[in-house]
Amino acid sequence: TDRQVVLSGMRSTGKLHLGHYFGTIRNWLDLQDRHICYFFAADWHALTSEYEDPSQVTASTVEAFADWVAAGVDPERAVVFVQSMVPEHAELHLLLSMITPLGWLERVPTYKEQLREVEGRDLSTYGFLGYPVLQTSDIVLYRAHFVPVGEDQASHLEISREIARRFNSLYGEVFPEPKALFTPTPKVPGLDGRKMSKSYGNAINLSDTPDEIRAKCKSMFTDPARILRKDPGHPETCNLFVFHRLLSPAAVTERVERECRAAGIGCVEDKALLADQIIAFLEPLRRRREDLMKDPGALLELLRKGSDRARERARETMGLVREALGLDYDRLLTGGRP
Ligand code: TRP
Repeated sequence: TDRQVVLSGMRSTGKLHLGHYFGTIRNWLDLQDRHICYFFAADWHALTSEYEDPSQVTASTVEAFADWVAAGVDPERAVVFVQSMVPEHAELHLLLSMITPLGWLERVPTYKEQLREVEGRDLSTYGFLGYPVLQTSDIVLYRAHFVPVGEDQASHLEISREIARRFNSLYGEVFPEPKALFTPTPKVPGLDGRKMSKSYGNAINLSDTPDEIRAKCKSMFTDPARILRKDPGHPETCNLFVFHRLLSPAAVTERVERECRAAGIGCVEDKALLADQIIAFLEPLRRRREDLMKDPGALLELLRKGSDRARERARETMGLVREALGLDYDRLLTGGRP
């Protein structure tokens, strides 16, 4: 088929939360119907920051995988795989590292920032500097045309496009230049109103139990201008309302909006109501996830099968790459004949 190839990945660090769901997974569900999709767990990328204690990386990968499938990512339609199960990522990373100027890597906006700001980890390593090279190999290994990104982060792809261009101009056209595919990424606030993130400790995880969700909702920040129960609220500046809009049935969202403005519903009540909505929203996911986790052998089989499918495409690309570089000893010595 000549459908376009889309590639997307997530670092395997910890449990998935609602920010991942609305920012990434929901887009995948939509994309898998329309394109040839490769979705993967970037466990090697996780090591760029977790190298001192890699013990959680495999567990995070399995958790993420279960969450994706439970959320509706279909391993029959999309190729869902694990980066380290396709060693060709490493081979291509090495070859691309030869042609990537240091200056390009040092100039990546998030590089110096994270080097400075990430606490408790020494990121002044070769691997962390090379993060975008590995990311580029993830993309071009599948000769992907599109990489889904949020509106504000098209620049992350720029270095991958540059590396692909440089390869093509040195050795011949092998890689399509990957383009940004703009997908909706609603801002999902955490319990404290900052961006939902594991490192802020403000996340609602997809695997949280109903009790955990209720407790977390109780601790949520609400409209700061609403001090007394009888004060009218402002849904447009309330954290709770962001979630109603993302996941509550329209009738509930409308009622909350109306009653909040009229001081008919209080924040405490709304927190309990929202908890019920989140629990109901995640319930089917939680059930499918539980089923998946009951049969680890079948889950491993899914990981393996997806990774084998990915590997077929990866091997094909590496054949083209070795040929383009002239790194083909068969061809040199026997003309390709056994
Ligand atoms: N950097 C991405 C993240 O932080 C993960 C990732 C690795 C990725 N390789 C990729 C995303 C290739 C898209 C394409 O989650």
